Amino acid sequence: MSHYRIALVIGSLRRESINRKLAGALVKLAPPEFSFTPLEIGDLPLYSEDNDANPPAPVTRMKSEIAAASGLLFVTPEYNRSIPGVLKNALDNASRPYGQNAWAGKPAGIIGASPGTIGTAMAQQHLRNVLAYLDVPTLCQPEAFLQIREGFFDPAGELANATTRKFLQGWMDRYVAWVKRHAD
Ligand SMILES: Cc1cc2nc3c(=O)[nH]c(=O)nc-3n(C[C@H](O)[C@H](O)[C@H](O)COP(=O)(O)O)c2cc1C
Repeated sequence: MSHYRIALVIGSLRRESINRKLAGALVKLAPPEFSFTPLEIGDLPLYSEDNDANPPAPVTRMKSEIAAASGLLFVTPEYNRSIPGVLKNALDNASRPYGQNAWAGKPAGIIGASPGTIGTAMAQQHLRNVLAYLDVPTLCQPEAFLQIREGFFDPAGELANATTRKFLQGWMDRYVAWVKRHAD
């Protein structure tokens, strides 16, 4: 049986991030042939073309982790109706030098959570835009815009609500099929 290594990209650096928690709950819904490794994006330099000729070590490390992955899973907050700068910086860093875009061709899923009512819808739409340019085949449906209210997670960090769990299981099943379709 094939094994699928997924690079998990969390768009928040916050220790108590609800998106990090969501990612933790989500990966438990994946089948055993899938494993998820978080990409470290907090130590990347701010992208500058000046570094293209000699990329800093954190960039080289991240690009090789992406290269080794069968797919990508983005779990991101929304900042000011877009993606957080830290995530855009990671996308930019791994997309260069020109012609050496590490993201290209890696099947991806996008999901995100916010205390706000639109549940990261605008950030996800902006992310789709960037990923289209980066040649990343991105799962279109089902969309998942999650509003996190008190009680969304139980004290152990698990999904507290059976309906949410069922919805996210359906999302994960579609994501798994998407990755397999592109990676096999
Ligand atoms: C700079 C900043 C901008 C934000 N902008 C939005 C926004 O546009 N939409 C939204 O739903 N929440 C917004 N929020 C609230 C975040 O959804 C909330 O802080 C969330 O917990 C961040 O995700 P995290 O817990 O994974 O770090 C913003 C928060 C910050 C710090």
